[in-house]
Amino acid sequence: MIRYEGTLYRPPSEADSLILQATIGCSYNECAFCAMYRDKRFRVRKLDELIAEIAWAKEHAPPPRKVFLADGDALVARPAFLHAVLDALRRAFPNLARVSCYASPQALQVRSVEQMRALRDAGLTLYYLGIESGDDRVLDALTKGVTADEMVLAATKAHDAGVKLSTMILLGAGGRARSHEHALASARVVNAIGPRFVSTLVVTPVEGTPLGDRAARGEVDELDPVELARELRTFLGALDLRGTVFRSNHASNFLSVAGTLPKDQGRMLAALDAVLADPDAAPFRPAWLRGL
Ligand SMILES: C[S@@+](CC[C@H](N)C(=O)[O-])C[C@H]1O[C@@H](n2cnc3c(N)ncnc32)[C@H](O)[C@@H]1O
Ligand code: SF4
Repeated sequence: MIRYEGTLYRPPSEADSLILQATIGCSYNECAFCAMYRDKRFRVRKLDELIAEIAWAKEHAPPPRKVFLADGDALVARPAFLHAVLDALRRAFPNLARVSCYASPQALQVRSVEQMRALRDAGLTLYYLGIESGDDRVLDALTKGVTADEMVLAATKAHDAGVKLSTMILLGAGGRARSHEHALASARVVNAIGPRFVSTLVVTPVEGTPLGDRAARGEVDELDPVELARELRTFLGALDLRGTVFRSNHASNFLSVAGTLPKDQGRMLAALDAVLADPDAAPFRPAWLRGL
């Protein structure tokens, strides 16, 4: 059987993937907005448990096309451990298209390009990375643990190793006061990285996090849907990317926008301009349909 410990989080694009918890929790666990692993103490799973789960999946489920290694920063596990998991996956599922995992900036700082290249050759070909913002003041307020320059350096290591990146930006993370700077600086950082995928999520204060505490004290200005659309418009308008898939269709968003850059950039910007010109007619998702 596959045993999952605590709440499991995975990117929307891994909905059909086999999910294995290679690690439990997040080794960093400090981001002010992130409640996902606060109740878990970080550890690497036992290899024999994972090997048994892979054997169980081979026996009891249709062969997966994709595998996602949870939890919050599985890339931080020792390369020898990840190689053993990847070898077992390749032997069990010879037609596997890809294995992916979350990679925090801290995990990318720890891994060398050579280590990431060897892991890519063994099948780990995509990392999800929360850039969140390209604005140092916002990154600092979010306690992300790196500056924008450090984020670019860390992400560039993954690209040097031939690994694809799927990156996340947090709309609203700068509040009203830094909305414009946050949007432009985030576009600068994403342009410098040039990821294969970029998506936006709307920052959501969650109870039990420093951001949730600040919100409870009334210290967080949460942007309304029109302000978020304006921030998204500024961000998207400043992106200069070739062949990047853009999505703002995560459940936390008020508006669903998706396309490939630069091909669909004009269409997506026109849709946002129409929303800003006539917000009353905009197809905003009701708050009750939104979630993390
Ligand atoms: C499970 S985390 C893993 C990311 C990875 N550990 C990293 O830091 O790069 C996935 C992403 O969910 C998003 N997220 C987490 N908490 C959130 C919140 N309260 N509101 C909005 N997005 C959130 C962030 O973009 C975060 O990078
Ligand atoms: S955003 Fe990523 S690095 Fe930050 S606490 Fe959450 S899982 Fe850990």
